[in-house]
Amino acid sequence: MAQADVLSAMPQQRIGRPADPCTMVIFGAAGDLTRRKLIPALYNLATNQLLSREFAVVGVARTQISEDEFRKRITNDIQQFASNGVDRDLWEWFLRRLHYVHGDFKDSNLYPRLKETLDKVDAEHSTHGNHLYYLATAADYFGPIVEQLAGVGLMHEGGEHWRRVIVEKPFGHDLESAKNLNQQLLKVADERQIYRIDHYLGKETVQNILAFRFANGIFEPIWNRRYIDHIQISVAETVGVESRGSYYDQAGALRDMVPNHIMQLISLTAMEPPVSFRADAVRDEQAKILHAIQPLSAEDVLSKTVRGQYGSGLINGERVPGYREEEGVPHDSKNETFVAMKLQIDNWRWADVPFYLRTGKRLPSRSTAVVIQFRRAPFVLFRDTPVENLMPNQLVMHIQPEEGISLRFAAKVPGPAMRLGAVDMNFEYADYFGSQPSTGYERLLHDCMIGDATLFQRADMVEAGWCVVSPVLDVWKALPPRNFPNYAAGTWGPRDAEDLLERDGRHWRDFEK
Ligand code: BG6
Repeated sequence: MAQADVLSAMPQQRIGRPADPCTMVIFGAAGDLTRRKLIPALYNLATNQLLSREFAVVGVARTQISEDEFRKRITNDIQQFASNGVDRDLWEWFLRRLHYVHGDFKDSNLYPRLKETLDKVDAEHSTHGNHLYYLATAADYFGPIVEQLAGVGLMHEGGEHWRRVIVEKPFGHDLESAKNLNQQLLKVADERQIYRIDHYLGKETVQNILAFRFANGIFEPIWNRRYIDHIQISVAETVGVESRGSYYDQAGALRDMVPNHIMQLISLTAMEPPVSFRADAVRDEQAKILHAIQPLSAEDVLSKTVRGQYGSGLINGERVPGYREEEGVPHDSKNETFVAMKLQIDNWRWADVPFYLRTGKRLPSRSTAVVIQFRRAPFVLFRDTPVENLMPNQLVMHIQPEEGISLRFAAKVPGPAMRLGAVDMNFEYADYFGSQPSTGYERLLHDCMIGDATLFQRADMVEAGWCVVSPVLDVWKALPPRNFPNYAAGTWGPRDAEDLLERDGRHWRDFEK
């Protein structure tokens, strides 16, 4: 088939405009992220006619292999990781646009060679000199790579072309290192050239929080302290640390999940309506929420946060090792694999409404959800009903693996007496929209290629996220835990996590029922 026709002949319907012409340069092209997510995501974009015809990829990695060998490897990988089969013609179209440069990211000799390759690739594929640099590397390389790119003129935006950089967490390991990293990047690039990915924002269900809140007239009027009792955010995983023991042992559940993914969920749930969907309008409102989170004092850290580490236990009936027995983890590790916290947002809408968060590894079921619990109805009519039967209304935004929204309310149990039972009204994505195979990176890559930064984090947001967890990191460091491991794999974390809510007369939503 003629090259230009391959894209338009693809069956799926395009929603949105194709991206700008560009060359995407992937640093870390031999790594897992590239094989599992980036290439399959680019392929899905091509399938949906969302890539420009004037497009190319340049992989950069240390491995000294030829371009042909690189193409062969990527072809093997796509068979394994494509979300929905691979079309031969389209894949060939894609392969012709795939190039490779080897070198050490810190070696200054790499960059003039890369520049030469990019000049050729730009000319061959008419990519207009637009470059998207994806740093799929360890965070230590972010600063040096961007500096070296700038050194050979590859960050310079002149005339008609753009230059953008995507980086993905970890953005530092505390507030100070995050600030340093931002400074390093901003020394040679403009904030609008930097796209900080939080892969949670690539999830449809996370983006849907905005649609749900602001495209429907009926929820926003009750989305405040007058009607909402509290909010729970649970990010539960059944997996352990997998093969990432040595990274995870330096990070821990708090750094790994809270300043980034969980802060995204909080800010989208709690933000004020933005004046438009322009990137900065949305991000300004998100940032305001992050800044309004009440800083925890040392006493608060002791009473409002809980940390845990899993010991051995049963997941789906199978025995799994404790954290300290995992590969790459010291046998006396004091690192936490579970965290729960109670936060308050100091603003007019949320005063006195607690936000309870919990996240952990090796919990009994995988589920990420935001639970909005409304205030109870007055008891007047149902005075004789046991209080536990008067279930408060809960609206649950199920992020994953269930994707949907459910509303729990009380209904009369059929029979002669007035008895109440809790029932759920459910919306599931798959029922309405089918399931779209996706890696979660498609939208983010496409947005970067069209210059839409709405779903990316600004420097100030990253720093605000770290401000929230900083006091916790400090207190936890000063007082190492004495009782680890303190929960068995396959349970919902340490008992203290239940107490955190029970003290306030509340309970975590049960996701196993
Ligand atoms: C990553 C964390 O950012 O997110 C992992 O480093 C975690 O520890 C993962 O497992 C969770 O992502 P998802 O998309 O599976 O919820």
